[in-house]
Amino acid sequence: MSDFRFHVAIIMDGNGRWATRRGLPRVAGHKAGANAVRRTIEAAPGLGISVLTLYAFSEDNWSRPPREVSALMKLLGRYLVQETDRCIANGVRLQAIGRRDRLPAPLAGMLGEAERRTADGRRLLLRLAIDYSSRHAILDAARKASDNFTEDRFSSLIGPDVDLLIRTSGEQRLSDFLLWECAYAEMVFTPRLWPDFNSDDLAQAVAEFQRRERRFGAISATTDLRTA
Ligand code: IPE
Ligand code: IPE
Ligand code: MG
Repeated sequence: MSDFRFHVAIIMDGNGRWATRRGLPRVAGHKAGANAVRRTIEAAPGLGISVLTLYAFSEDNWSRPPREVSALMKLLGRYLVQETDRCIANGVRLQAIGRRDRLPAPLAGMLGEAERRTADGRRLLLRLAIDYSSRHAILDAARKASDNFTEDRFSSLIGPDVDLLIRTSGEQRLSDFLLWECAYAEMVFTPRLWPDFNSDDLAQAVAEFQRRERRFGAISATTDLRTA
C-alpha cells in the first residue's frame, strides 16, 4: 500500500427504516444493507480510498431484540463466507475491530479465518467494526500504552485517523464510533438510507470532501499573510 492513505469511515444507518417503509421486517433491511456493503467495497479503490471502516454492529446494538441480534450475527457470518474469495481476488484485506469474546464462536472463528486468508490484500484495507465501542477501544489502548504513553504510541494502538466520515439515514451523531480517530475528520451526512446507498453516493461524498479545505487549526493556505 502506498504511503498516501485516504481513510473513509461509514456509519451504515437506516436499514430498519428502509424495511419498515416497505412493510417488511427489519431483518429484510439488514439483508438489503449487505448488498450496499458489497457495492461500496467495489467502488472504494477507484475513488482513491485505501482504508474503509464500516460500522456493522455497535456494542449498544446488543440491546436490540434477541431475534434481530441473532439475525444480524447470522448475516455477518454468511457475508464473510460469501465474500472472502471475492476479497482475495480484489486485493481487499479484511480486519475486524471490536470485541470478539461475546460473538457467537463460529462467527469469531470465521472472522479470524477471513483475516488470515485476506492478509496479502494491498488494494484496500477493509475494517469491519463489530461489537465495537470507541470508548472501550480508547480505554483498551490506554491500558496497553501505559508503559510508553505518547500520542504517537497511543494513535498506533488505536488505528488510523479518519479523513472522511459518512453517516447515512439523516442522523447526525457518532454513536460511539471512532471518537479519537475523527478528531479532524470531514463529516458528510446523507439522508439516503443505507440499503439504497450506491457508488454515486460514495463518489458524491468524496467530491464533497475534496471541495472542503482542511485547516487542522491553522489558517487558510490562501490567506494573504499581509492582511492576516
Ligand atoms: C443500521 O441500521 C444497522 C445496524 C445498526 C446494525 P439500523 O438497524 O440502525 O436502522 P434504523 O436506524 O433502525 O433505521
Ligand atoms: C450506529 O447506529 C451503529 C451502526 C450503524 C452499526 P445505531 O442505529 O445503532 O445508532 P443510534 O442508536 O441511532 O445512535
Ligand atoms: Mg439506526
